[in-house]
This record gives sequence, structure tokens and C-alpha cells, in this order.
Amino acid sequence: MDYQVFLVFLGIVGGGIIAASPTALGVVNDESVLHIAGIFPIGGKGGWQGGQACEPAAMLALEDVNKRSDLLPGFTLRLHWNDSECEPGLGASVMYNLLYNKPQKLMLLAGCSTVCTTVAEAAKMWNLVVLCYGASSPALSDRNRFPTLFRTHPSATVHNPTRIKLMEKYGWSRVAILQQAEEVFISTVEDLEARCKRSGIEIITRQSFLSDPTDAVRNLRRQDARVIVGLFYVVAARRVLCEVFKQKLYGKSHVWFFIGWYEDNWFVENLDQEGIKCTAEEMKMAAEGHLTTEALMWNQNEQQTISGMTTNDFRERLNKALKKRYEIDEERYPEGYQEAPLAYDAVWAVALAFNKTMEKLNRQGKRSLKDFTYTDKETADDIYSAINSTQFLGVSGYVAFSSQGDRIALTQIEQAVDGKYVLLGYYDTQSDNLTWFNRERWSGGKVPQDRTIVRRVLRTVSLGLFVSMCTISLVGILWAAALILFNFLHRHRRVIQLSQPACNTLMLVGVVLCLGSVFPLGLDGRFVEGEAYPTVCTARSWLLCTGFSLAYGAMFSKVWRVHRLTTKAKADPKADEGWKLYVMVGGFLFVDVALLLSWQLTDPPERGIEVFPLEDPLNTEDDIKIRPELEHCESQHSTVWLGILYGYKGLVLIFGLFLAYETRSIKVKAINDSRLVGMSIYNVVVLCLITAPVTMVIASQQDAGYAFVALSIIFCCFLSMALIFVPKVIEVMRHPGEKERGSDGAQSDGGMTREEEERYRSLLAENDELQKLISAKEEKIRLLKQRLEEKEAAEGGGNRGKQRHGGRRRQVDSPAGVFTISEIDRKIPITHKEWL
Ligand SMILES: *[C@@H]1O[C@H](CO)[C@@H](O)[C@H](O)[C@H]1NC(C)=O
Ligand SMILES: *[C@@H]1O[C@H](CO)[C@@H](O)[C@H](O)[C@H]1NC(C)=O
Ligand SMILES: *[C@@H]1O[C@H](CO)[C@@H](O)[C@H](O)[C@H]1NC(C)=O
Repeated sequence: MDYQVFLVFLGIVGGGIIAASPTALGVVNDESVLHIAGIFPIGGKGGWQGGQACEPAAMLALEDVNKRSDLLPGFTLRLHWNDSECEPGLGASVMYNLLYNKPQKLMLLAGCSTVCTTVAEAAKMWNLVVLCYGASSPALSDRNRFPTLFRTHPSATVHNPTRIKLMEKYGWSRVAILQQAEEVFISTVEDLEARCKRSGIEIITRQSFLSDPTDAVRNLRRQDARVIVGLFYVVAARRVLCEVFKQKLYGKSHVWFFIGWYEDNWFVENLDQEGIKCTAEEMKMAAEGHLTTEALMWNQNEQQTISGMTTNDFRERLNKALKKRYEIDEERYPEGYQEAPLAYDAVWAVALAFNKTMEKLNRQGKRSLKDFTYTDKETADDIYSAINSTQFLGVSGYVAFSSQGDRIALTQIEQAVDGKYVLLGYYDTQSDNLTWFNRERWSGGKVPQDRTIVRRVLRTVSLGLFVSMCTISLVGILWAAALILFNFLHRHRRVIQLSQPACNTLMLVGVVLCLGSVFPLGLDGRFVEGEAYPTVCTARSWLLCTGFSLAYGAMFSKVWRVHRLTTKAKADPKADEGWKLYVMVGGFLFVDVALLLSWQLTDPPERGIEVFPLEDPLNTEDDIKIRPELEHCESQHSTVWLGILYGYKGLVLIFGLFLAYETRSIKVKAINDSRLVGMSIYNVVVLCLITAPVTMVIASQQDAGYAFVALSIIFCCFLSMALIFVPKVIEVMRHPGEKERGSDGAQSDGGMTREEEERYRSLLAENDELQKLISAKEEKIRLLKQRLEEKEAAEGGGNRGKQRHGGRRRQVDSPAGVFTISEIDRKIPITHKEWL
């Protein structure tokens, strides 16, 4: 590359004089001129044609820079430029023309992201520093790809720290992103995602669209997006906003972040031209309350900048300059008006950097800036480091560059309030300084939430039900206790003594335990903490199981005993084998304890939560949903354990039912209440067999489930107590005088008087005696008959004799008189049953 531009070094002579009035002279001696190249997008269609205002601004800057005597003394800065129309190809062509044609250029200015990308990627080949005044693409912040690029335009990613700052300020940690599929937005979103991740903000969804945002917005609604960052050009923004209105993604529950560089009333303009199917009124509603972030391109303070102008001075001068070229009405400035200060400051940055480089080169006394060629890497590095360290206060604010070559800038945050933008504050990324004016307004009166707040509500047994069940249980427990006392006080009464009172006491203890289980059954989240719940579970199973075993076991062993007495012929009803009853109850209890203990130890109960579908709160003003939850006692293998328990209890129940049926009409003296016990067994079995499956089905309805179980327990207990004890109590009350069993008098136990019993006993004894007698007589008859037959055989037949003997044989003596055989026959099979 031998594109040497020959330049004659003028020396120091007269530089200051020439520099003082370059424009006045019109043509300046080429030896004292520093040439820079500029590419401005002006006459193109589409894209950013910001050169329209930026080029005049750059020219203003050039004028001001060259006027300054302390800047580049002895030199004039000259800008050679052409139009790129924001077309990368044309931009490249313009760049080649500018570089290949004399004079030698020292630096390149460019605008429009696509052109900047092309130019900056190529410029390193000529050792040229590129300064972009109008390019926001985050892709340009890549030092490897663009080693010599700087820009006075902030990168689009400058919004991201501001957005994050606001999200943190309002406590939003769950956001969604809606973007137009354009390179600049894609790289902005990538940066935003990385920053969100660092700040612990969750991005719930990232929706992108080419031109029609309908589906993307709909998806946002589906994902319950509340805080949404929208990245798109203004035309797409109007479509998005209309869709936002239709999907109702606005108002008190939603916050949108838009880009701040749209015009102030962008959401009500061009609706008809662009075929937006929303009215201006609707658009205004949807836009209400949204936030915008915007990199500041105009100095906000009326400070004197490096050029000596304030921002307003600059605006006036720029307007004047623009009016010379364009037909400007009051409202509409040429494109790029917003960015004009950036172009102005870009030229100043170049001049300051050159001034600095020149100073350095002069100090070293070796080279001059004028000697720069496209192969002169050393000078290029000097220029690079000079611009890298350039800092000044320009009309676009404080100008400084990051190590990535990006402009460090303030961002401003605005909010649409009543269709107008209200300035909320500024944010300085570099120093993390948020200046906030507290002017934000939310339509809900408070900061919107970043998500639907789900309130967990524990379903509990209703207090009224719980209290009434517990009251009934308590009455039952007191009643059982009273019955225990009754049993004890009247232990000498026959009616009690013959009812296995200890067994009945066991039953009553069981009833107390069962009724006691009604309390823990209704204890739930209303009364106990989650940690205490397993204890409640344990209490429930132990109380109910042991209570059942005691109460039912006592009744079961009674009917079992009655059954034994009637089936075993040898059994002596008088023998006091009451201890066997307790062994049986003890056996049941032992099995229970063994089962429950092994369950408890190997697979302890835990607090399981059943979750129901979300429900709307009663008060719809609140932006929440309710998730009902229900506590259950659970353990890992609870079905197995319950299966074993229910199986065992079920067998006992069924067997008890069978025994009760078998002995339904048998009365044994030693157990005088067996029929009543049988009846209460029926009732327990039936209720248990209904309750167990039904509670499994309605377990999800805490009130119904609790009511069902509690009522079953209460009903079983009360009925059993009533069946077994009411007759005894009545009996005792009817005969209050009798104290001891031994005392005589008409007395009954369960309907059998003492006389009757005596008679029954004597009859039984008589029966036995008679049976013995009969068998003796039978034996005698058999022998006689045998002898007779032998005789007849000897006589050779005699029918008359046989008849005679037959009549006599049918008479048997008996102590109670003379019975015929047939009468005795009837008496022999006397059972207790017949007697009753
Ligand atoms: C640049 O400007 C010159 C005249 O100033 C013109 O002839 C040329 O066509 C322009 N375009 C390019 C791409 O150089
Ligand atoms: C330009 O450089 C000269 C020294 O060469 C210095 O005195 C002057 O202050 C610099 N100008 C500016 C504006 O920094
Ligand atoms: C933050 O910026 C404001 C102006 O925007 C300034 O007045 C204030 O001193 C700054 N605070 C810090 C800590 O830098």
C-alpha cells in the first residue's frame, strides 16, 4: 500500500495567524491543514439519515475548533465528506474514495450503525481511528473486531444498566422481553440478559417478532408477564401498543419499558397511514404509565461547554444553520437533529485528540501529525491513546470513552403520565448515581408487581364444626368416666357382677380414647404449626387404634366367649374364665402397639400438603391469586401401613360380626349382656365399613371428612355405651335398695329373676340326671332285648310274646314320677335356648 500522500511540513511559522482565520481565507495553505474524512447518511431511503442535521453540526464544530487559537496552533482542521445514504456498500465506496484520493486523512467520522460497522472493520487496515457520531449498535462494542473505533453516540446497551437499576429500585425480579428481530435489538437483549443474570433478575420469556407482534404479545400474556422490556423501532412500537391494548397488558398490573428516542407523541401519530386498528384514545390508554430510558444527547445543564456555548446557544446556532439549508417549519427538524450534538462533539473530540497528540509528538521532537501515513502505526497508536483519554464537557454532555470505545453517558428515565412524558430522573452508569425526582405515577396507586402473587391459604376445618364435635366428644368422655365410676360403685350388684365389669371398664376406656381422638383429628394449621403436625398425626393414629382395640376388643372377646360356651359341650359356664377375656383384649392391644410402633419407627408420619388449583380472591381489587392447601398425615409407605391396619381391623370386624350373629339369641349367665354387646358390634362394624372408604373419597374436603369421621366415632361410642349400660343403670335405679349380691329378694339381672335362675339350674341338673338314668335304662333294655331274642330263637318264634313285651318296655321309672319314653325324648335335648 503505497498511498503516500505527500505533505510538506510548514513548520511553526505563521500557523497561529492562519489558524485564526481559516474560513475567512477560504483556501488555506495545504501544509497547515489536517484533513479528516466524514461519511454522512443523508439522501437515502429508510435507515437513519441523521447526516441531515449532523453534517451541519459537524461543520459548526469545525468552524469553532478552527477559531480557537489554543487548539491545534498553526493548523486547520478540514473535513472531507460524502453521503453514504446509510447503505454499507455505498459507505465503503465513499470511504475508499476519501482515503485513496488526496489529501491524506488522519481520521474518519461515520454515522449510521451499518456503515460504521463496515467502515470501522476496514479502517484498521489504514491505521485509521474511526469516530462514529451516530451508531448505537451494541455489536460495535467489540474491541477485537473494531480495534480503532470510538463513538460519541452511546451504545444501545447504555439503557440496560438503567433498566436493571429501575428493576432493582422497584423490586422487580421477573421480567419479560419483547424485541423486534433486528441486529441492534438482538445484541441489546443479549447484553440485557447477561446483566439480568448478574443481578439475579429472572427473564421469564424472550419474544421476538419480525413485523407482526400479535403472537408475541399474546405469548407474553400467557406467561403472566408483568414487567416487559420492549425493544423495537417506532413503527413496530405502535403495532405492539395496539396489541397491548387488545390483550389488556396495560394498567395497574403491567409496566412497559420502551426506548426513549421515539418522538414524544409517537403513540397517537400515523395510526391511519400504518393501518393501526386502535384509536388514538385506546393507544393513549395502553401507553399510560410506561417507562422510557434514553441516553442523553443534549447537555441537560445550562453549563458553558468547552466551546464556550451553552446547550441553548448551540441549539440556536444549529437551527440557524439548518434553516439555511432546509425548509424547516416549527415542529419538524431534519433527521438526526437529536444526535447533532454528538456530531458536534465528535469533531471537538478529534481536535482535542489531535492537539494532545501533537503536543506529545512535539515533545518527542520526532514526527509531526502532518507526516502521518496509512502505514504509520506509531502515530496511529498515539492518536488512539489520545482520543481514548479525551474528556471534556460538550454540548452532548460529558464526553468520555470506555475501553470498548463506547461513549459514557447519562441516561434519563421518563414516564408517560396523562399522555405526556414526565422526567423521572437521571442515571449515571459510570458512578451508579441515580438522581430521582419521585414524580412517578402508577395507575393502581402502588408499584405494580412483577408477578401474580400467589397467596397460600391453608384449608382448615371450620371452627364451629370443630368446637361442636369436641363438645360432644367431651360430653361422651365425661359420660364414659361416669359409667366407669358407676361400674365401680355398683361392682357388688349382680347385674354388674355378671357382666364382666372389668371388661366393660376396658371398653369404656377404649371409648374415652376414641372420643379423645376427635380432638387431634380436627387439629390442623389453624391451631398447630407445621412442625407440630406430625405429632398430631401420631396422636390421631395412637388414640384411635388403641381406643378401637380396647373398646371393640372387649366386646369381641365377650361374644367370642359366649360362642365358645355354647359350642363346646364340656365347657362349664360356672368356671370363672374371665381372665381369658383380658388376654384377648391384651392380644389386640399388643398387635396394635406392635404395628403402630413399627410404623412410627420405620416410616414416621409427615405433614403432606395437598395443593388445589388457583382461585381468585374474594376481594378482586387485590392483584393476587389464592392457592388452597390442605394438610394430610403422610408417610412414605402410608398405603402399605394403612392396608395392613385396615386389613387386620377389617378381619376382626367381620369375625366379630359373625360371632355376634351366631350368638344372637344365646344367653349365658356369666355374661349377661352378650346380646347387647352383639348389637353394638353390628353397629360398630357397619359404621366402620362405611366410614373407612368414604373418608378416603372425601379426604380433600376437610369439613366433610372431619364431620364424617368425628360423627362416626361419636355415634359408635355413644350407641355402644347406651346399649351396654343403659339397661344396667335402669336396673340399678329401679332397685336402689340392693347393695350386695348376697341379699335375697326379687331381683333380676337382665330380665332373669333369681328364682327363675334357681329353677333353671335345678332343671339343668335334673336333665343331666335324667339323661344318665335314661342311658342306664337303655342299656338295661338292650340287654333284656338281647336275652329275649335269644330266648325266642330258642323257642322257635312266638309273636304274641313280643307284642306283650313291647308294651311294657315303653315304661321307665323316674324319680319325678313315671315318664313315657317319648316324654323323656322331648326332655333330653333341652338346651338353654329352648329353656329361654
Ligand atoms: C462524492 O462526492 C463527489 C463530489 O463531491 C461525487 O462526485 C461522488 O460521486 C460522490 N460519491 C462517492 C460515492 O464518492
Ligand atoms: C492544545 O495544546 C496546547 C499545547 O500544545 C495546550 O497549551 C492547549 O491548552 C491545548 N488546547 C486545549 C484546548 O486543551
Ligand atoms: C449524582 O448526580 C447529580 C446530578 O445529576 C449530582 O448533583 C450528585 O452530586 C451526584 N452524586 C454523586 C454521589 O455523584
